[in-house]
Amino acid sequence: MSPATNNQTIKIKFLQTLESAIKEQTFVSLVLMNKKNSESDIKKIAIRPVQLKKGLMLSFISRYPTNDITKNYTIEIGLKNISDLFEDTFAQGELSTVSTEYFFSYPEKGKSKLKQKDRKEFIEASTTHDHQKNRLIDQSQNYLYALGVTNEKGKILKDKQAKYRQINKFIEIINPIIEKSSLDNKVNVVDMGSGKGYLSFALYDHLKNNLGYDPHMTGIELRPDLVSKCNNISINAGFKNLSFKEGSIETTPIDTPDILIALHACNTATDDAIAKGIHAKAKMIICSPCCHKQIRKQMTPATHVKSITQFGILKERQAEIITDTIRALVLKAYGYKTNVMEFISTDHTPKNLLITAIKENDPIQPLQNHLEEITVLKNFFGIDEHHIEKLTYNN
Ligand SMILES: C[S@@+](CC[C@H](N)C(=O)[O-])C[C@H]1O[C@@H](n2cnc3c(N)ncnc32)[C@H](O)[C@@H]1O
Repeated sequence: MSPATNNQTIKIKFLQTLESAIKEQTFVSLVLMNKKNSESDIKKIAIRPVQLKKGLMLSFISRYPTNDITKNYTIEIGLKNISDLFEDTFAQGELSTVSTEYFFSYPEKGKSKLKQKDRKEFIEASTTHDHQKNRLIDQSQNYLYALGVTNEKGKILKDKQAKYRQINKFIEIINPIIEKSSLDNKVNVVDMGSGKGYLSFALYDHLKNNLGYDPHMTGIELRPDLVSKCNNISINAGFKNLSFKEGSIETTPIDTPDILIALHACNTATDDAIAKGIHAKAKMIICSPCCHKQIRKQMTPATHVKSITQFGILKERQAEIITDTIRALVLKAYGYKTNVMEFISTDHTPKNLLITAIKENDPIQPLQNHLEEITVLKNFFGIDEHHIEKLTYNN
């Protein structure tokens, strides 16, 4: 057998091993590396299986010196691409399955080799739901490095572990809501008070690369330095439909968003964001309130429960509960199925509630029963007006 034919036979064997692992759902990852062609600036490609709406696909993350580009392919096209990439671009492939690691070399000159090493312990295949749940946001993504969450090797920095957990937890909570909803493929998202953009990037990445949507996302942020930084990171990440705009939540016009998020927008900025979403008839409003100052000043409960406000910290917590209850009731009044849940452990931050609201109905007038619930609450605690009322039905 000629060396070229021998190399081809080994390559076919490697590709058949990969194809069987995909079929048997034991495929974990394949990394193509050791570039043959010096003209291309691609460094390596990491391939893993992803379960998208369209079915099982292969996700290719191509790593360039300054950015990553992710593309998903059907199994058939993905396998064909891998075969072509060995011919043109890469001389080495490391295939990981749940039980075995395979090392394939396919040099331009010389003999091809295929070695394998059994694992001491089985690992989980990345197509399983459990595995996806554990790490919905892939820590090797370049934007996490640019945001200062990981080091250049994709390792989470010690002081950013909590931030990484928070990002994943947010995606974990929002994921089943999105999966159950009937969003069109093109999803419009607006992030109110996007700040450093951690959650905007993660949500865009998840919608695009894990769920296969075509997201168009705008982050609205007061601080021009953060806007410019996030726009640069987005360009480098190849997130062509994620951009950031300088402006205030109150005055920046928005189109009808499918998803509006407002995470830790300060004080009444959360109310501004929710009201914006209600007026724009957003299909989903997800917010995590920040500080709650507006109600606290007004609270003068009836004499028999006055003691509830005599201790500063308890008054503050009571004010938070009332503030968020009224926000949730206003959302219900406007036809949103609303839920309030704990976002992350209070060890990380006391700002740990997440209000999720999904538009179910579009009432002509806000629903009276929920407005009455608000009135009862306000009367009980001696509150004149919640900021969100001013922006909605009291407007
Ligand atoms: C606590 S940070 C949260 C950032 C981001 N949403 C997150 O959770 O990582 C709040 C951000 O909202 C911005 N912000 C506050 N009020 C705003 C307003 N009225 N309009 C636009 N941005 C606002 C602040 O500049 C800040 O960057």
